[in-house]
Amino acid sequence: MVLLKEKLEELEYKGEKKDIKIGIIGAGYVGLVTSVGLSYKGYDVLVFEKNKEKLSLLKKGISPFYEPDLHRFLTSALNSGRLKFIDEVSQIIKECKYIYICVGTPIKEDQTYDMFFLDLAAKEIANHLPTNERKIIIIKSTVPPGTARWFQKIIYRYRRGKKTNIEVASIPEFLREGNAIYDFFNPNRIIIGIDNKEIVDDLRQIYHDFPSPIIIVSTIEAELIKLASNTFLATKISFINSISDICEQLGCDIENVRMGIGLDHRIGLDFLKPGIGFGGSCLPKDLNAIISLFKEKQIDPVLFEAVKKINNDRINLLLNKIKKALWNVKGKNITIWGISFKAGTDDIRESPTLKLIPMLLKEGANLILYDPKATNNFKNQYPQYSVNTSIKITENIYESVVNSNLIVITNDWEDYKKVNFSKIYELMETPIIIDGRNILDHALISEHGFEYYRIGVNHESS
Ligand code: UDX
Repeated sequence: MVLLKEKLEELEYKGEKKDIKIGIIGAGYVGLVTSVGLSYKGYDVLVFEKNKEKLSLLKKGISPFYEPDLHRFLTSALNSGRLKFIDEVSQIIKECKYIYICVGTPIKEDQTYDMFFLDLAAKEIANHLPTNERKIIIIKSTVPPGTARWFQKIIYRYRRGKKTNIEVASIPEFLREGNAIYDFFNPNRIIIGIDNKEIVDDLRQIYHDFPSPIIIVSTIEAELIKLASNTFLATKISFINSISDICEQLGCDIENVRMGIGLDHRIGLDFLKPGIGFGGSCLPKDLNAIISLFKEKQIDPVLFEAVKKINNDRINLLLNKIKKALWNVKGKNITIWGISFKAGTDDIRESPTLKLIPMLLKEGANLILYDPKATNNFKNQYPQYSVNTSIKITENIYESVVNSNLIVITNDWEDYKKVNFSKIYELMETPIIIDGRNILDHALISEHGFEYYRIGVNHESS
């Protein structure tokens, strides 16, 4: 049965315990959510995380990152005894029939995936694999097509001729940060990529009580499905961003145009929100990866290069809007609401804000940064900004606008809608808002007296 989002809170650790032990290597977004989700489903789950600091937090039931509902699920999973974080990866390899690989695959400078941690995992598995015992290894990390087959080959290589009974499958993960727990229990589809039909039933068994269609494909197809899905989402966003540019020139409102396009079921409204470009750990990375893949196979990646170019140009467009609105940027106090790449997460990877900050500093602005969850990550990852006298970071949204000349909104937290805009108006020196995500109610904001600029609307004609 499909779980309604509102019902997520009612999920309790009950359900019967299943007599299957699952091992997870890597407790990042995918690994940790998969771990608590599978333990909720009744499996015994052992998780190995190589980062000692993260591991010690996890053992105490503290998530190293913010994700709605995760804390509650993590605490219940630990209390139920079905979830354990362990120091030795060998324990997983020895005790678990199913081993999920959820290690990071960051993108290298040449825009290809870094397979270092996958290689390391293959080596560990090869070193500790009990002879004769059947193990099913499931790759969940985002990887280029062909990885599962390589992974199997590499394990055999490290085994140096010793008897080996493994099968490597690819079950890509489609969960979104900020919705990860919900997405885990309600995937639109479950893609099971296998190259040996003998393990179909073993894998179906794990996923039998999910309310989602299961599609059985080859490992390489599963890997391509993941890459192509993220690229399609990126393409949809760049498409609507392009349409929003022409809206500004023609005097149209992108929200009306978007509605008119998106209500066609073949198109859909999802991922059709204009803004200042997509960020995060997946869409930009997978877009780069597909471009590299096409080039490697000597196919022209013209479509994907255009999607990337459109996305990269968004930040210049935002900067121009700021410059135009302020007339002179030098010496102005600019408030940025938004550090994470989107609402619902403290993840700042590939966040458009990170590109905007140096641009505004170069123009001579003073910056005040606010985000409901990401200020700590920002301070830790960019310590140079904490000592920069032109930047102030605050956890109080009202403090962020004192004497400000302009607020620029760069991500889409609902929190921004709930503030007292009369108070914000009073606190600012010049009350101007540039809404890079079109999340505020423009009639309401204008009523308060703000100069309000959105994406995809020509303000000279409105
Ligand atoms: C994405 C995929 O959605 C998910 O299926 C996959 O498993 C991992 O990558 P995520 O990176 O968590 O998930 O974020 P997502 O919700 O896809 O948003 C990505 C970026 O696109 C964000 O910067 C967001 O602000 C932007 N976006 C999204 C838009 O600009 N417009 C939209 O309409 C939707």
